[in-house]
Amino acid sequence: MMSIKLLLSVGASLALASPVPAPPSPVLIGRETGHFNASRPNITIFATGGTIAGSAGSSDQTTGYEAGALGVEVLIDAVPQLWNVSNPSGIQFANVGSSEITPEILLNLTQMVQRELDKPECQGVVVTHGTDTLEETAFFLDITLRTDKPVVVVGAMRPATAISADGPINLLEAVTVAAAPAAARRGVMVVLNDRIASAYYTTKTQANAPDTFKSYEQGFLGYLLDIKPVFYFQPALPVGRPYFNVTAAAAEALPQVDILYGYQGLDPKMAEAAVANGAKGLVCTGMGAGSWTRPGQKALAQLAKENGTAVVFSRRTMDGFVESGSVGYGGGFLNPQKARYTLMLALNAGYDDEKMHALFESQSPS
Ligand code: SIN
Repeated sequence: MMSIKLLLSVGASLALASPVPAPPSPVLIGRETGHFNASRPNITIFATGGTIAGSAGSSDQTTGYEAGALGVEVLIDAVPQLWNVSNPSGIQFANVGSSEITPEILLNLTQMVQRELDKPECQGVVVTHGTDTLEETAFFLDITLRTDKPVVVVGAMRPATAISADGPINLLEAVTVAAAPAAARRGVMVVLNDRIASAYYTTKTQANAPDTFKSYEQGFLGYLLDIKPVFYFQPALPVGRPYFNVTAAAAEALPQVDILYGYQGLDPKMAEAAVANGAKGLVCTGMGAGSWTRPGQKALAQLAKENGTAVVFSRRTMDGFVESGSVGYGGGFLNPQKARYTLMLALNAGYDDEKMHALFESQSPS
């Protein structure tokens, strides 16, 4: 199908339980193929693994398979229609299940994607990713990339070997969106199941079904009809979306932030244990609109005072807004995993209390 030029080699395919080597080395698949057409946009696909590159023993197996088994050239070769809408080019950034993605890997990824976007010949970027933590990577890219060009994160819920695998169509739709001029200036997007979502708001809502990425309150940005993107609105960015410049950050730089889960009778010692284990910040997955038990709040206030621990409250409900209270900062509309990356990047940037309040309260009612 396409000729493949390997500029760098990498032993990229890992079993689910294998540790991730860091930093991952890229494998670049060249544009020097017989299909290249200068009138089509050049789209760079960064492959990281996940079910979209997954392989199972039988066509009816959609759980318990190996995520991150197939290389980016296999993904591209499986969808020759990509050449109708783009000149696709692949970088094998990693090949792992998305639960193995770490903040260090994300720093590497965002720096590499930024460099690619800064090239005049690159019109857009697609990142293939496991769906389990896709929203974290998409959000991280959204608040650390500076570009007007489309960036789309895509995954699949069924492995490539499954009957009715959703990976090929999702990849084609993601590349089509990344190649569309109408997709510019919209922040990072997530494309799955014919829908275009804002990385800032979308979350995985269903553990098994292809129709899983949703943002119930904010809705979708658009959908795909006959594999063509249709946007509901003119380009817009989420209110209060911050930008953190990490182009020069060292790969190991981000401070540790842990997430605590709220429940009846929670043990306040969880917070103390996390701080003793090195956490510089805590995101509390609060009950309702961020509520926490009284003994728990007392422990958090003490940690903030004595250790300078930064505390952000989010919620264990699917949606809703969390305001700041007497302890810490309210995470606004951010779910715990998105509040965590925001806090890590803010701590990394040296935000003081005033800037933290401004950051987390930027979506508060005026
Ligand atoms: C993963 O997140 O890597 C596995 C699950 C998926 O991609 O749907």
